Amino acid sequence: MSVLQGDQPTHHGGGMTTRHQVPWLDDWQDFEAAVASIRQGEFDPETYGVDPGETFDRNMWRYWNVAYSIRHAVEHCQSVSFNAVECGVAEGGTAFIAAAQLAAEPVANYTFHLYDAWEGMRGDGLLPSEISLAGRYSSLSEARARDNLERFSANLCWHPGHIPESLDDTAPTTVSWIHIDLNSATATLDVLEYLWPRMPEGAVLLLDDHGWLFWDDTRRVINRYLRSRPGTLLPLSTGQAMYFR
Ligand SMILES: C[S@@+](CC[C@H](N)C(=O)[O-])C[C@H]1O[C@@H](n2cnc3c(N)ncnc32)[C@H](O)[C@@H]1O
Repeated sequence: MSVLQGDQPTHHGGGMTTRHQVPWLDDWQDFEAAVASIRQGEFDPETYGVDPGETFDRNMWRYWNVAYSIRHAVEHCQSVSFNAVECGVAEGGTAFIAAAQLAAEPVANYTFHLYDAWEGMRGDGLLPSEISLAGRYSSLSEARARDNLERFSANLCWHPGHIPESLDDTAPTTVSWIHIDLNSATATLDVLEYLWPRMPEGAVLLLDDHGWLFWDDTRRVINRYLRSRPGTLLPLSTGQAMYFR
């Protein structure tokens, strides 16, 4: 929700409440159009709730961080062919926002690589703090994800399968934008180890599971990996963190 009404919050949802101005008021018409369009898709109720539109409203500020990070990466990675990667696509909530923003930006040629198992999470890749998630996401459908993202299909490259096995030689050799949303510390580290060396200066990495209390182990893994590497990690009040290479 993002409506200014007297003393009411300007945004409430996704773990944060604020009375400050929302950042998508000026010059983000394509972003607002994408958030409106995404409601036309079909989404698994177990993951997106019985009213996905309400879930998308709650996540508006998180989605704006997605759109902002795309714009930043496009502006700072003009010299390389633009590859974007999402690890943890589900049925394409965030991927829709990212793909729509890519389509709206002045980037001549880009490919958006989409990674997900589209099967339940395997227990053997989970830490003790995460083991309750074994089997989670078994109701997700790759076919629904493809339908939801159909309008962007010319620029999409699909990589179904479990990480780390799916991180194979079909992965892009340079990556200007990465979104990691795997709900698994080990798989998050697998992605960092595989893709961070492929990020040129100016690239952006958006980490969904950084500040959530449940994902303490993921935050620790991310901080440990990035601490000794060049770039800036900015934790956000949405629970995400944005890393600028
Ligand atoms: C929180 S959901 C992603 C939500 C999605 N980004 C969105 O905005 O709709 C986490 C996803 O990570 C995927 N996932 C978790 N561990 C994985 C692994 N090791 N390999 C591939 N996909 C995995 C799950 O299948 C699930 O779709």
